[in-house]
Amino acid sequence: MTPSANLIEIRNLSVDFEGKRQFVRALHGIDLTLKRGEALGIVGESGCGKSITWMAALGLLGSNARVSGSAKLDGQEILGAGDETLSKIRGGRVAMIFQDPSSSLNPLHKIGWQLGEALRLHQGLTGDAARKEAERLIDRVGIANARQRLGEYPHEFSGGMNQRVMIAMALAGNPDLVVADEPTTALDATIQAQILDLIDDIRRERGMALVLISHDLGMVSEMTERVAVMYCGRIIEDTPTADLFDHPAHPYTRGLIAAIPSFDGPRQRLAAISGTVPPPANLPPGCTFAPRCALADIGCKRTVPLMRTAGSDPRHRAACEKLDAVLQTVTPMPMAAQPSTAGMMQ
Ligand SMILES: Nc1ncnc2c1ncn2[C@@H]1O[C@H](COP(=O)(O)OP(=O)(O)O)[C@@H](O)[C@H]1O
Ligand SMILES: [Mg+2]
Repeated sequence: MTPSANLIEIRNLSVDFEGKRQFVRALHGIDLTLKRGEALGIVGESGCGKSITWMAALGLLGSNARVSGSAKLDGQEILGAGDETLSKIRGGRVAMIFQDPSSSLNPLHKIGWQLGEALRLHQGLTGDAARKEAERLIDRVGIANARQRLGEYPHEFSGGMNQRVMIAMALAGNPDLVVADEPTTALDATIQAQILDLIDDIRRERGMALVLISHDLGMVSEMTERVAVMYCGRIIEDTPTADLFDHPAHPYTRGLIAAIPSFDGPRQRLAAISGTVPPPANLPPGCTFAPRCALADIGCKRTVPLMRTAGSDPRHRAACEKLDAVLQTVTPMPMAAQPSTAGMMQ
């Protein structure tokens, strides 16, 4: 099979969850491509559909979810593929790192056994070869005394160390793509930076593609070449990272940028976007961001805006009826004045 230019091609991916009376749409026709070796950030507040996009594509949603559309890996359809195919892909060609490593590591097995299993399953390594490779990986992710630590259980490791083990597990499959979903949200700030550096170094070293999912736009922008912003189950802006800060196009994105803490100013509660993300069962009509947007008028509340080119770079696209007006203003848009019930940070 000749590899296609795009490693991942997601088309019109939708997810409906079974509700009390009917199915409720949580993901609304996502289109997303990822080139080999590309680093893409997915940002948006909690509940915007960042995680379920990738869980749907990789067959990780439960039986209360109805998934439709298409997700191709190297040109091969993986949506609806059998369990055997999917479990080979997951942990093999596509590795996932989650926020909470303890949910992915088995507390009953030693780290070495778990790494060994991953190496056996995905690379066919056993015995001495597997042990050596496990040691090499543990060493590579910055854990000292690799041989000794392989004989320990997950509870003997700190959160940061377990996340390093997860990265080693991800590497055991020699993946083309790592999907890291809020990989450092549960960790202290200094450990966070170390883990992100490690993911970044390893990605470059191996030429892997990376999808970094986070509610933290500042963090994502440091690690990725391209960013997709999600709101209420849709991508509302997709842009090269550099353009994101020079010409943010969607008022929501501008709100996220305004909420990035500055290091030189006094520490204070962020002036985040007012209001909260509406739940999937209760979406406002038209542009779902309109109730929180200072620029919205009656037209915005009528139709769901489509993605279109924002500015001179055709790779920069956004879905907003007021795009031209937004792009003419330099400073981030003020948000609609409403009493804020919740900050955007988790
Ligand atoms: N298993 C599920 N059953 C029902 N609703 C779900 C399920 N998983 C996620 N959702 C809903 O789908 C929406 C998107 O969730 P998610 O992708 O986890 O958000 P994010 O990762 O951006 O924080 C949320 O409203 C969430 O409540
Ligand atoms: Mg999530």
